[in-house]
Amino acid sequence: MTEVENSRKIDTHKLDSIITACGGDKSHLIAILQKVQEEYKYLPEDALIYIGTKIEGLSPATVYGVATFYAQFSLDPKGKYEIKVCDGTACHVRGSMPVLNAIKSHLKLQDGQSTTNDGLFSLETVSCLGACGLAPVCVINGKVYPQMTSDAVKIVLDTLLEKERG
Ligand code: FES
Repeated sequence: MTEVENSRKIDTHKLDSIITACGGDKSHLIAILQKVQEEYKYLPEDALIYIGTKIEGLSPATVYGVATFYAQFSLDPKGKYEIKVCDGTACHVRGSMPVLNAIKSHLKLQDGQSTTNDGLFSLETVSCLGACGLAPVCVINGKVYPQMTSDAVKIVLDTLLEKERG
């Protein structure tokens, strides 16, 4: 089991209190999933199974179906630093893919891997962020980084890594 998986084990007491606080029945499933995502920063598969088994009238398959239907929910673990690279048209034309590739290579993310093994960084592409004049744009934990280049993004990542190492 990786460090990330270890740190993301579900806490059934926590899930029970979320279910109870949200009314405890299937009509509140969306609110329950929102709270679980707030807690874990994504929806762990074990949590979906637990909720589907625990709440009357639901099944794990139904809960999974709802969680995958709504774009607001993520079934992939997020890192402490959530990196979003815009790949809308303006950003793509101005070089978002080289920036994305520089991040992947700097963080040693393999193809198909979206979160680093230490759980520090997760990476995703998003569509237009509405800041096309600043293209190409990256967002890290809500902070916008305009006119990114491969070199600039490596410096940003190194700064965050240094901060983490103290
Ligand atoms: S295309 Fe990237 S901000 Fe619009």
